[in-house]
Amino acid sequence: MERKLRNNYDKLAEHYAKDVDTKAFNAYYERPAMINAIGSVNDLRVLDAGCGAGFYTEWLINNGAKEVIAIDFSEKMVESTKRRIGDKAKVYVANLNEKLNFEDSYFELIISSLTLHYVKDLDFTLKELSRILKPNGKLIFSIHHPIMTYLYFSLENYFEEILLEDVINKIPVYFYHRSFNKISNSIYNNNFLIEKIIEPKPINEFKKQDKKNFNKLNKKPHFIIFKTIKYNK
Ligand SMILES: C[S@@+](CC[C@H](N)C(=O)[O-])C[C@H]1O[C@@H](n2cnc3c(N)ncnc32)[C@H](O)[C@@H]1O
Repeated sequence: MERKLRNNYDKLAEHYAKDVDTKAFNAYYERPAMINAIGSVNDLRVLDAGCGAGFYTEWLINNGAKEVIAIDFSEKMVESTKRRIGDKAKVYVANLNEKLNFEDSYFELIISSLTLHYVKDLDFTLKELSRILKPNGKLIFSIHHPIMTYLYFSLENYFEEILLEDVINKIPVYFYHRSFNKISNSIYNNNFLIEKIIEPKPINEFKKQDKKNFNKLNKKPHFIIFKTIKYNK
């Protein structure tokens, strides 16, 4: 399933690069809230985990991060980010389901936008992200809201961790539904404390592009953002 997801993200890369800066769910819903949660990145060493076509990678560079490293397991996404930012950041193929090739406590900030619902074992990935983050460093990530996946996929059992299929531009992608309890346990068990939980609302520009979903998103959550801080044991 992992290989299939990676191949499908390879296939999606071109479409993603063209679409993602202006697509309402990203541009006018997830990003404003995520950018607000991230705050200042000035002089920080930052990892963009699951960089896709590199929107956040570029944003981090333009907003004064001292060093930006971006990773994604799709080669085509990595190529796309490289095309976008040239040599202003290091961009690598790396898999968040595996051990990462960074030394302990290397980063001061890790951001991961709409990626961690794809990882096989959230505990494993958060343990690895915790290892490479400095104490007091922040991990800020957005994922599908568990209430959304529960309702939208008419799940029988909210508490069961389950692999689901979504379709982007007619290409299937596979992600996990995880309960709040599962997500928050993985956060706490890996030395993170939750500083803030954000359930975004779309900004007004969304309405111009897609009034139906604008009204829906004002009533039902779709994504959720966790702003966490790594504490010393
Ligand atoms: C929905 S896209 C989000 C991209 C980008 N963060 C953004 O917000 O525009 C999800 C990305 O996660 C990557 N991804 C999924 N599973 C991954 C894994 N196990 N390791 C690394 N990247 C992964 C995909 O290749 C894809 O580029």
